Amino acid sequence: MDSVDGGTNCKDDEIVLESSDHHNTSSNHHQQQKQHNRSSREIFQITLIFFIMLGLSGLVLYQYAYPSPFYQRSYSQSFSPRNPMKENQSSPSRGALQGNKISPSNDTTPGKQISPGNDDKTLEKVLDQAAMEDKTVIITTLNAAWTEPNSIFDFFLESFAIGNGTQNLLKHVIVIAFDAKAYFRCLAVLTNCYALKTEGVDFADEAIFMTEDYLKMMWTRIEFLISVLEIGYNFVFTDADVMWLRNPFHRFYSNVDFQIACDHYWFNSTDLNNSPNGGFNYVRSNNRTIQFYKFWYKSKDKFPGQHDQDVLNMIKFDPFINKIGLEIRFLDTAYFGGFCEPSKDLNLVCTMHANCCIGLDNKIHDLKMVIDDWKNYMSMPGHEKFTKTINWTVPRRCF
Ligand SMILES: *[C@@H]1O[C@H](CO)[C@@H](O)[C@H](O)[C@H]1NC(C)=O
Ligand SMILES: *[C@@H]1O[C@H](CO)[C@@H](O)[C@H](O)[C@H]1NC(C)=O
Ligand SMILES: *[C@@H]1O[C@H](CO)[C@@H](O)[C@H](O)[C@H]1NC(C)=O
Ligand SMILES: *[C@@H]1O[C@H](CO)[C@@H](O)[C@H](O)[C@H]1NC(C)=O
Ligand SMILES: *[C@@H]1O[C@H](CO)[C@@H](O)[C@H](O)[C@H]1NC(C)=O
Ligand SMILES: *[C@@H]1O[C@H](CO)[C@@H](O)[C@H](O)[C@H]1NC(C)=O
Repeated sequence: MDSVDGGTNCKDDEIVLESSDHHNTSSNHHQQQKQHNRSSREIFQITLIFFIMLGLSGLVLYQYAYPSPFYQRSYSQSFSPRNPMKENQSSPSRGALQGNKISPSNDTTPGKQISPGNDDKTLEKVLDQAAMEDKTVIITTLNAAWTEPNSIFDFFLESFAIGNGTQNLLKHVIVIAFDAKAYFRCLAVLTNCYALKTEGVDFADEAIFMTEDYLKMMWTRIEFLISVLEIGYNFVFTDADVMWLRNPFHRFYSNVDFQIACDHYWFNSTDLNNSPNGGFNYVRSNNRTIQFYKFWYKSKDKFPGQHDQDVLNMIKFDPFINKIGLEIRFLDTAYFGGFCEPSKDLNLVCTMHANCCIGLDNKIHDLKMVIDDWKNYMSMPGHEKFTKTINWTVPRRCF
């Protein structure tokens, strides 16, 4: 909504500017007629300036009312990959144009708000480009704060490079960029980048845990994932602060609708009392998962001010889940660990999540240690690796 308002305000400013100029000029005119001491040349100049200003503001208004096809295209495709340069150049006026393009609707129907224009087509293309043979993609979300040099995104990419058997997975990763900076950073290193626009929110800064923007970002991603399921793609959703150290597909349950990593894995994989972590899950696209994600998204209104993970913890016992027949599994932290509960044996670990960590600096600090731990582990001779139980040195500043 802010960006929409911003656009309207800009437009109003132009109008105000124009009419006050008009006013000044005509009062000047009055004075001139009274005093009769100004040359007609001066009057001509003033009139000329007036018409130029009128013309200019008319042109600006015209731009707002009828954005050129170029802008329309680049907006409907959200920072179109084909035109990164031009999109960059037009970025100063982005707010205003955005206001024009995205309708100020508070329609909360999943999948609608975030797909202005014909985004769906572009999304389908990105999904198709990234998918494995069985139509599975790996999705992560990114904002500007996480793309700084030596920040989260660099560690994420590095983990694929130094992981065991993870290099080939990177081509299946789609980065959902919440802002232009994240989008361009993605384009510089990966082929599958998708810019997701959300009206009224600037996601570029570090989203402080549980602030309004943080919540909005979390729910936007749930909303977006509904679209992915509806288009027919399975996905592994991974936060960018999850390090991929081994191929997780060897450890996933087969033919399960929804499987999710845990902050703490206390029980068995089917026990709903486990505490899931929304930052890593593997979801197969079918009617049950589409219904489930819509139910999850809708439940945010029943639990205002809660993030998706808390809401998941409330709805996981809901009879609706049984009714639709959704099969849920919880992933063991022995393979899918995090700072809340690190995998105890590096010989087994697939992923390491910087969860239970508040503050970007702390996260970066400890993730760097994860990368170093892993490098040390990988450089150990084989017999040493497999005969010892090798432990993490983290968390240090997290938790
Ligand atoms: C766009 O702008 C960003 C920052 O303003 C810059 O890092 C990036 O290289 C630019 N991209 C292009 C294609 O000019
Ligand atoms: C949209 O939101 C505004 C305030 O945010 C509210 O006053 C209005 O009733 C809402 N409209 C609908 C259709 O929900
Ligand atoms: C890495 O993967 C290869 C092939 O799957 C396997 O033989 C090797 O033991 C793995 N190394 C580690 C450290 O997991
Ligand atoms: C695992 O949890 C389920 C669901 O709570 C329960 O029915 C089952 O008995 C448990 N299995 C074991 C081996 O504890
Ligand atoms: C999914 O639901 C739609 C209608 O909601 C139905 O037409 C379709 O057959 C269902 N697909 C499967 C695989 O059950
Ligand atoms: C691993 O390290 C943690 C502390 O960093 C410690 O609590 C735990 O006992 C260690 N586990 C093993 C198997 O050495």
